[in-house]
Amino acid sequence: MKNINIGLTETQRQGVIDLLNNDLADSYLLLVKTKKYHWDVVGPQFMTLHKLWQAHYEALTINVDAIAERIRMLGGYPVGTMEGFLKICSLKEHAGKIPTTTEMVSYLLDDHEKVIRNLRDHIEKCSEKYKDDGTADFLTGLMGQHEEIAWMLRSFIEGESLESNGAKPEPNKKTVGV
Ligand SMILES: [Fe+2]
Repeated sequence: MKNINIGLTETQRQGVIDLLNNDLADSYLLLVKTKKYHWDVVGPQFMTLHKLWQAHYEALTINVDAIAERIRMLGGYPVGTMEGFLKICSLKEHAGKIPTTTEMVSYLLDDHEKVIRNLRDHIEKCSEKYKDDGTADFLTGLMGQHEEIAWMLRSFIEGESLESNGAKPEPNKKTVGV
């Protein structure tokens, strides 16, 4: 193979490739979980969540492709097998019982927040340790998407808990930003 001469050492590129493969594995698992809940969800919020999760898995589908292709740009190979993804991903599946609607939202929120924490760490490593600002910038864009999705899911759960216990919102909390 022709040498890759883009101002990064082999060690730097390999370090970044390993981080990207971890992000790819997590994004792929999150894509699968989001699709499963898009299919399984029932109840009065069916259409809202069915459509929301379709939008999320479509975004994740674009992201996994972009992560895998960035790995190729750096001279590496994406993992690309389910067995391989499960070995290196940091997220967990909840196979077996079908969760309640609130549990589904909660599991996905936890996963997106975990991905955000991982990305924050990987962005710093790419920039500081491996001197690859291009990948740091790429991962920063992904992190923003996960932050937006996490906000939507968090808002959904907050609404659920208010409805279920009948509590009225505290007035001082609701005046923020008004
Ligand atoms: Fe569908």
